[in-house]
Amino acid sequence: MNRATKIFVPGFALLVVAGIAFGGWIQWQSHRRLARVYAIEVAAVPVPAGAEAVARGKHLATTRGCVDCHGADLAGATVIDDGAMGRIDGPNLTRGAGGLPADYADSDFVRAIRHGVNREGRGLFLMPSTDYATLSDADMGALIAHLRVLPAVDKPSGPVKPGPVARTLLATGRLRLAAQEIQHARIKPSQVAPAANADYGRYVAASCTGCHGSNLSGGKIAVGPPTWPPASNLTPHPDGRLGQWTEADFVRALRTHRRPDGSEISPVMPKTFGGLDEIEMKALWAYLRTLPPKPLGKR
Ligand code: HEC
Ligand code: HEC
Repeated sequence: MNRATKIFVPGFALLVVAGIAFGGWIQWQSHRRLARVYAIEVAAVPVPAGAEAVARGKHLATTRGCVDCHGADLAGATVIDDGAMGRIDGPNLTRGAGGLPADYADSDFVRAIRHGVNREGRGLFLMPSTDYATLSDADMGALIAHLRVLPAVDKPSGPVKPGPVARTLLATGRLRLAAQEIQHARIKPSQVAPAANADYGRYVAASCTGCHGSNLSGGKIAVGPPTWPPASNLTPHPDGRLGQWTEADFVRALRTHRRPDGSEISPVMPKTFGGLDEIEMKALWAYLRTLPPKPLGKR
């Protein structure tokens, strides 16, 4: 062996061993995070019957993201299919074959939607329950009323298989499950009534925080594949565009998916928010106006 190989061979072997050890640690640590069991008390939520509640529930399901990840018929859809982040499907939420079991209870819905935890106590991956934890009992009840009467669709639920980058982010704590974030014993359902004001706007904006951040300053979406653009800054900071927009510009942008300059907004920003009603739009805008300006991604 010459001198170079004498150094290179052991050095390389050491690297391989370290790589294997690190990979093993990532597997173990991410598995631990994904398999952790959350024992939580689920508060009962009254589920109203009747067409009005079902209609409100349907409006919520179509404008708060559910259809984007669980499909237009809520019978399941692929959300992420990427070498780095993995293959993640929103499961079939209907009572058809491959969907939710017949004995899936209202409290199971509350546990999943409000707490991000399934019946076995496992934290759900990607399901943005941090956005839904503050849903009012009235809205939660209406949502469940709608989910209960969905037409049954026979379709197997797809895989939830986080890829290597997702596992590394999980292991190192840079990607956290909603169940890890939510203070389960301290959830206070909102009491705010629908009105075109900033209070109601903050309530509606909970559906935006999963991507735009808790203070809506935008930036990298943790769970997003590398191809996803950063979420825009929605605060009136010069890093973002909304400081220059009017309410009409904002409503038009959500409805048509185009900015005032005519440019198209990426489909990563769900088009379904365009279905928010007039009061929700005005309330959101009123709330966004009250936000302190923050640089992009300063969460
Ligand atoms: C960003 C994507 C995304 C959005 C938005 C989303 N979900 Fe989910 N949801 C998922 C994924 C993925 C799972 C499965 C996660 C797992 O098994 O680890 C899931 C799981 C669930 C479950 C649990 C099913 C079970 O097996 O117990 C319910 C119920 C549910 N979602 C309802 C909803 C409702 C209602 C909404 C809207 C208020 C919603 N989801 C919005 C991605 C999403
Ligand atoms: C699934 C992630 C996601 C959610 C949830 C989401 N957004 Fe977005 N949003 C994005 C991304 C990513 C962009 C940047 C798109 C681009 O660069 O074209 C964006 C862009 C926007 C824009 C365009 C702003 C600009 O400067 O171009 C507005 C307005 C907006 N979002 C408002 C909202 C509101 C209001 C909500 C909640 C009701 C919301 N978004 C929820 C991901 C999301």
